[in-house]
Amino acid sequence: MTGEQHERGEFRTIIEPFRIHSVEPLVMATRAEREEAIREAGFNLFSLRAQDVLVDLLTDSGTGAMSRDQWAAIQRGDESYAGSPSWFAFERAVTELFPFRHVIPTHQGRAAERILFGVVGAPGLVVPSNTHFDTTRANVEASGAEAVDLVVAEGRDPASRHPFKGNVDVGALSALLASRAGQVPLVMVTVTNNSGGGQPVSLANLREVRAACDRAGVPLFLDACRFAENAWFIREREPGQSGRDVADIVREMASLADGMTMSAKKDPMCNIGGWLACNDDELARQARNLLVLTEGFPTYGGLAGRDLEAIAQGLSEAVSHDYLRYRIRSTAYLGEALDRAGVPVVLPIGGHAVYVDARALLPHVPPLEYPGQSLAVALYERGGIRSCEIGTVMFGRRPDGTEEPAAMDLVRLAIPRRTYTQSHVDYVIEVCEAVARDAGSLGGYRIVDEPPQLRHFTARFAPLG
Ligand code: F0G
Repeated sequence: MTGEQHERGEFRTIIEPFRIHSVEPLVMATRAEREEAIREAGFNLFSLRAQDVLVDLLTDSGTGAMSRDQWAAIQRGDESYAGSPSWFAFERAVTELFPFRHVIPTHQGRAAERILFGVVGAPGLVVPSNTHFDTTRANVEASGAEAVDLVVAEGRDPASRHPFKGNVDVGALSALLASRAGQVPLVMVTVTNNSGGGQPVSLANLREVRAACDRAGVPLFLDACRFAENAWFIREREPGQSGRDVADIVREMASLADGMTMSAKKDPMCNIGGWLACNDDELARQARNLLVLTEGFPTYGGLAGRDLEAIAQGLSEAVSHDYLRYRIRSTAYLGEALDRAGVPVVLPIGGHAVYVDARALLPHVPPLEYPGQSLAVALYERGGIRSCEIGTVMFGRRPDGTEEPAAMDLVRLAIPRRTYTQSHVDYVIEVCEAVARDAGSLGGYRIVDEPPQLRHFTARFAPLG
């Protein structure tokens, strides 16, 4: 079946555009074994052993399958300390899509963020974004600067069907650029907007943000982790963009920016890696000075030569239309099935994950009794599915130690790339339906032990009642 036949709608079934070459066994535990495992883990999904999970939807970061050609590229990895051929292959592949003058390899996305804000951040400054991912926000704040989220109103409304819910509120951005003139070192746009449900940003919005930045004389950076999924949404949803080559759309997105940060653990299809890129020579010089302190020499940064090769190959696969059509359709397949079954989900379905609205599904569990945690534990106990609470557990603790409900209580089902088949997804749908049917019987949780920061990773919980 060709991509063209799919586009004409001749056949409905989404098939994985690959076949399996090497398999990993999954352990089929019993419900009693899972109940024991989650109790031992203090009802925290992060504390489970991965071996005790059947379908792992905790994250799409670094958990995907590499291709035959990526494994072959790994064999080509040249581990020369300086000027390795693998570095040149990496640099060529990155600049083919993102033609920035300087490319600085890091071990993952947050290392690029730390270096970037280590150079441009300082107390008294403010960095606007559609929505900062939590490591980006943490790195902005660690520099002493303030991180501000300015996503359009539709991006905060789970039920809005706006096609580009990741867009920046350009009016609010222009007002901030005027009121804080001289205090904005750069504007950041996250594509797709992970914290806002994996929702895309349109080219039209990027052009308007670019114009606002130009008027204020402020550079624009992309947090481009899910650039290929964003470009596919542009091709599918933005007037005048259908039929365009995704790689071309990516180059246009990059041409509107002055630089970028990247986690190669997402769309570049790798298990590790990232980079910082920019056009500004002075910024690049200072960034490389920080790079050699904690990451490595500029032609490998935080990576081995073999990782650079895997990224170079992964980038060419990330913009394949057959791959992206399957990727976006298969995520939508899960989300639409849950929606049809009456499970409340964030709409439209995003690129890399489906977000279940636990507050709506468990209205009898108040936010401070963590409905998202309750749902995530139930999905694990019932079917061995590991998901991630994105709600009051993750965001509800204030710096003074008191608590308040987060804006939403969501559970994210993130889809690792090229890893699970349609029958895995059909199974996930069945488990979600069963848990949703019995949602009335699920109770809340209390936290019995928590660290002062980022408590969701290590907190221990106990069921109430
Ligand atoms: N930016 C975005 C939008 C991200 O989603 C992530 C990671 C990062 C930056 C940081 O990259 O992990 O390589 O240091 N997101 C993962 C997730 C962890 O599960 O959504 P990193």
